Amino acid sequence: MCGIFGITGRDGDTIQILLKGLTKVEYRGYDSSGICISTPTGLSLKRKEGMLDNLKQNLSGLQEGRSGIAHTRWATHGPPTEMNAHPHCDPQNRVAVVHNGIIENEVQLRQILIESGPEVCFSSDTDSELVAHVLAEELDAECGNEVPTDEQLLAAWRRTLDRLDGSFSLGALVNGRDDVILFARVFSPLILALNEAGYLASDISCLAGMVDKISYIEDGDWGLLHPGRIELYDKDGEAQIREMKKLPWAEEDSELGGWSTFMLKEINEQPAVIRACLHGRLSRDAVRGVKISFKPDLVRIIACGTAFHAGMMARHYIEELSGIPCIVDHAHEFRYGTPSGPKALVLGISQSGETADTLAGLIAAQERGYPTLSIVNVETSTIARQSDAILGIRAGPEIGVASTKAFTGQVLGGLLVALRLGRLANKVHTEDLSNLNNAARRLPNAMERLLASNQLEQGLKRARRLFKGKEHAFYLGRNSSYPIALEGALKLKEISYIHAEGYAGGELKHGPLALIEEGTPVVVVSSDGIIQQKLFGNAREVAARGARVIMIAIEGDQEAAAHADVVIYVPKTHKLLQPLMHNVVCQLLSYHVARDRDCNVDRPRNLAKSVTVE
Ligand code: G6P
Repeated sequence: MCGIFGITGRDGDTIQILLKGLTKVEYRGYDSSGICISTPTGLSLKRKEGMLDNLKQNLSGLQEGRSGIAHTRWATHGPPTEMNAHPHCDPQNRVAVVHNGIIENEVQLRQILIESGPEVCFSSDTDSELVAHVLAEELDAECGNEVPTDEQLLAAWRRTLDRLDGSFSLGALVNGRDDVILFARVFSPLILALNEAGYLASDISCLAGMVDKISYIEDGDWGLLHPGRIELYDKDGEAQIREMKKLPWAEEDSELGGWSTFMLKEINEQPAVIRACLHGRLSRDAVRGVKISFKPDLVRIIACGTAFHAGMMARHYIEELSGIPCIVDHAHEFRYGTPSGPKALVLGISQSGETADTLAGLIAAQERGYPTLSIVNVETSTIARQSDAILGIRAGPEIGVASTKAFTGQVLGGLLVALRLGRLANKVHTEDLSNLNNAARRLPNAMERLLASNQLEQGLKRARRLFKGKEHAFYLGRNSSYPIALEGALKLKEISYIHAEGYAGGELKHGPLALIEEGTPVVVVSSDGIIQQKLFGNAREVAARGARVIMIAIEGDQEAAAHADVVIYVPKTHKLLQPLMHNVVCQLLSYHVARDRDCNVDRPRNLAKSVTVE
């Protein structure tokens, strides 16, 4: 949520580098963007409403300098206008600030600033602008109109931070000091990096190709970023040196590489994700790398969005394979609940590892004494570092805002956890593992075959026509296909803006059936055995009321065609892995429907990849 990028110590190419970095973090927010450069003659600012391209095309007047900060916004306070775009300056243009997060004592700060002098005027609706006012005020108190020394900068910055409540990552420039960027991090992500210059960024994707090593600074850290040097203090004001770590991803991993969109690229990367995620972890006779050393009485899963649906899959696996009861909560619900009771393991699931509610839920769990394990994609993220143990899904950078390949990795992560628990509970035997391992080894090839099949292409072509001009759609599943129905509906609404709901088939008669009318598209995520027959029954019920049924069925299913307008077949695999195949079809269906409606699938309106505010 909001992307920050900053650099100090360049000569002549600061703007170009800022734009390059900003392009990589644009997926964090894209309703407006801006850049401020520290030049020998003052702070030079350019901001624009809309996507980053709009800023790129309107850079005239922006001056070059040795340091700069840049921002791409996802609005929380005030509409997405140029006035509300970051960076924000104080009225005298002495400082410029970029901010990700929320300043919670905004109202009180605003009041204090208003009372401090009649000349105070605000130029935006944002909470972030107040940081610029407070910093300018503290600099004034520290050194009047003089250019501040490092000591004066630090003193003013510390007092500024002391006056702020909330969650924030901040970068700030001060007029006259084009050799330094002020930074701070409280409960929002911020990374620092060095070569002969100094860099600050919201996430690692924009640093790939620029630096080799990065520092994940800690919560409460603040200080000065100099070219080639970090001066850092912890929340108690003690000077600290934070470890520099190798950047985990290469630059090309987060590029399109010939694909038209990141979403399509990432859907097609799923076979590779399966190979990478299971490599060395699942074998004929063992499950490795899942750091659980005891058999809990209960597993509590917390996650948001697509990761929550992966959590529902994990629950299914855990209960089936280990017999241990499992509860799945939205992290924001868990966070403010009062869970207590048995010896529980709390399992967090997050692609980015930065989702504020999931992080807060894990911290709440730890405060209540529960051990935490997190399934993450970004293994160096805040959630990864906060958790007692992690299981990385090895999906590589996911750029498309709608999560696709991470879901596959998260589901497999949940399966590995369930297998480990099943082993601890003596319920998963070598024969079970061997069968699953055989199927898992064949899964990537089978998925590749599906992705390349003419049958899929033709099926999607017919299916997407049924969505033409429609504003509502439904997805039905049962048991292990129910989370896929939920995820399918989420994907469709996220990127095509068609209202879509996923239901357990058994729930149909308890309300949703009232919404079915002539032509309503209903996607049935079929299965086999008794569940298949029940879903066929649901398909008949909606068809009888005018719905157009799209059935995702397993190859060889002779009966599916009798219950659907369009059937798309997926290769048969192990029943625990089957939902992943169905999900690929749901992803592609959403993708094509959204493209048919000219929607930007990588940057859906109002959404952001990483929700780092509550
Ligand atoms: C946002 C994204 C979703 C994602 C969710 C959870 O809503 O748009 O795609 O599933 O956050 O993100 P996480 O990084 O915690 O998996």
